Amino acid sequence: MHDPLLLATPVTATHRMSTDPLANRQQAWSALFSEPMSELVQRYTASVGFDKRLWRADIQGSLAHAEMLAAQGVIQPADLADIQRGLGQITQEIESGQFQWKLELEDVHLNIEARLTTLVGDAGKRLHTGRSRNDQVATDVRLWLRGEIDKLAVLLKAMQWALVELAARHTGTVMPGFTHMQVAQPVSFAHHLLAYVEMFSRDAERLAEVRRRTNQLPLGAAALAGTSYPLDRARVAATLGFEGLCQNSLDAVSDRDFALEFSSFAAICMVHVSRLSEEIVLWMSQNFGFIDLADRYCTGSSIMPQKRNPDVAELARGKSGRVVGHLMGMLTLMKGQPLTYNKDNQEDKEPLFDTVDTLADTLRIMAEMAGGIVVKPEAMERAALKGYATATDLADYLVRKGLPFRDAHETVALAVKIALQRGLALTDLTLAELQALQPAIGSDVYEVLSLHGSMNARQVLGGTAPAQVQLQIDRHRQRLA
Ligand code: ARG
Repeated sequence: MHDPLLLATPVTATHRMSTDPLANRQQAWSALFSEPMSELVQRYTASVGFDKRLWRADIQGSLAHAEMLAAQGVIQPADLADIQRGLGQITQEIESGQFQWKLELEDVHLNIEARLTTLVGDAGKRLHTGRSRNDQVATDVRLWLRGEIDKLAVLLKAMQWALVELAARHTGTVMPGFTHMQVAQPVSFAHHLLAYVEMFSRDAERLAEVRRRTNQLPLGAAALAGTSYPLDRARVAATLGFEGLCQNSLDAVSDRDFALEFSSFAAICMVHVSRLSEEIVLWMSQNFGFIDLADRYCTGSSIMPQKRNPDVAELARGKSGRVVGHLMGMLTLMKGQPLTYNKDNQEDKEPLFDTVDTLADTLRIMAEMAGGIVVKPEAMERAALKGYATATDLADYLVRKGLPFRDAHETVALAVKIALQRGLALTDLTLAELQALQPAIGSDVYEVLSLHGSMNARQVLGGTAPAQVQLQIDRHRQRLA
């Protein structure tokens, strides 16, 4: 059996057409065409350079389709055996790097099918019965993405674990909580980290939802209208582990909203990573000095010998841009497409692949880096002492003594003003000075004004009191286990 592609000679319109339409697209597509494709068109329309990444899903899908064709009596058992043998060999060729991908065969599907026909002859030509590349590519992308979703779910979990375990060591570590980037109220570092765990846990939920809607079988839709062969779609779905069948053939070949949803999940998740990264960069700057990062996550400067830069966090923040961009690109790709399949859809792959790669790498490296964060509790505490972070606690104290909240708020504003003028903290004001502002104040006020006193008081569910945060840590550990 020879490979007709290797024997290809330049063709002219007068050449006799091959009987195998896949044999060589330097020849024309089929007997219908009177001239071959120009080289530029061939390069412009080819996707094999990137979609060969789908090869395993493509072979899996073909095997399931062929088994079903044989079970339904559409092809003979001998054909199935040939197809299985041929696809087995192709798998080995691709795994060992020996497979020759050919641009003139356009995409992963035609490359594999042509090789199969070279290897096993007519059985290879029967594989495509009742199938089109339109339902084939939709199936391949869904299968491939499902596998990537499962890997990402593991990485998202690891990211959450890293943050939960870091938090578990810092339920009593006070830092300033900010609003408007101004010191607002003391919170624990653990509480702050767990805010990100909440975000990532919602991301994981979104991902699980996307998986469910991705995991639906398009095969059987054929080109667009379904097929006249007696296919058993449920059997193919069961073989491939799909949870359901696409219920409308037109939708099956043209829908890419599973990919849009996935990109949307990824963009949101990267935005969460980006916010955390921004904080890590700030915390590591000299002006904050809240944390240090292990050297292996930092880079130096070629000119400033003193520099240690948090490049990994900065890049993670920066890479959120391309993932958000891919979402915009894919939405725009879909918006003008009439039903059903259009070649535009071929443009879904590069952004989708890059989204998966970028998110996977980012989650992996961020989880690792988070595990290596060195916390500097004294610096956090010093910063929390700076901005009158317990002023609200003084107001709440006055409310407990019977003042209406608005009056208490005003009294505390006065106290802060006096302290500010004298460059003091609220706790530096004497009891007599405080009582001059409001006689109801007693000596128990100093505990209320302390950072830990303030933190411990926030016992509401979801609050920053160490006992509450510990409950959340326990919940997360149970959830993630
Ligand atoms: N490479 C194509 C894609 O990615 C495969 C489907 C092509 N179908 C077609 N009728 N041209 O979308």
